[in-house]
Amino acid sequence: MPVPHDIPAETKLWDAFAESAFEPDAEPSFCWTQYAGHGPGAELLGGPESALEIGCGTGRALAYLAQQGVKVSGVDLSPRMVQLAGDRWAPLGVRIEQGGVLDWLVADESLYDAVYSIFGAAWFTDPARLFPLVREHLAPGGVFVFSQPPAIPGAYGPQGMYKGGFAGKAMFTYRYSYRPAVWERLLTRAGFGTAKAEVFDAPKAGHIGTLIVTARV
Ligand SMILES: C[S@@+](CC[C@H](N)C(=O)[O-])C[C@H]1O[C@@H](n2cnc3c(N)ncnc32)[C@H](O)[C@@H]1O
Repeated sequence: MPVPHDIPAETKLWDAFAESAFEPDAEPSFCWTQYAGHGPGAELLGGPESALEIGCGTGRALAYLAQQGVKVSGVDLSPRMVQLAGDRWAPLGVRIEQGGVLDWLVADESLYDAVYSIFGAAWFTDPARLFPLVREHLAPGGVFVFSQPPAIPGAYGPQGMYKGGFAGKAMFTYRYSYRPAVWERLLTRAGFGTAKAEVFDAPKAGHIGTLIVTARV
């Protein structure tokens, strides 16, 4: 049973997030994990000529790729984040548009060598709807990579998530968690040729690792 996403309400939540998360002085950087400088980098994208980040947030990863000569585009639900990140990275040629990823992909006619999400829209969107759309937007030989926290054992599928604090106005969204083998199955069912999902260990034993998923056309 699909959960009742309320995109206008989720937009307000992410606008509030933007005000606290955007750091105007932050430099371009590309990191799949929640630990700066830890884990693999942009090489997982395989040296694309073009790349799309879904749920690009602060745009730091897009800015990093733009500095490497990649033609980059981003989409994000939060108008505030798009304004902040768009202004910050426009001088590097970064193009960021506002939209919910599903509607945005339906309207977009481009093909990309790489589509990726770093704790971004792939975490907050029903994979049964998202993955076929991503597959349609990949050029031959293209790759889809995303990272997010691994599932908590026994808690699989869509999960409700309140904006922090558990007090005040009820703002919430949904995020999606599955075991690695289930992510792989969802991707191959959506038409990807290969899919590999793995949990990358945190820098310290016992700390939260990172699910990194790579799927190829
Ligand atoms: C936790 S942030 C991480 C983003 C990015 N990796 C960064 O470094 O800022 C998640 C982002 O996903 C965006 N997002 C959530 N749901 C989305 C959707 N349905 N479509 C597009 N973007 C979405 C939010 O607006 C937010 O900026």
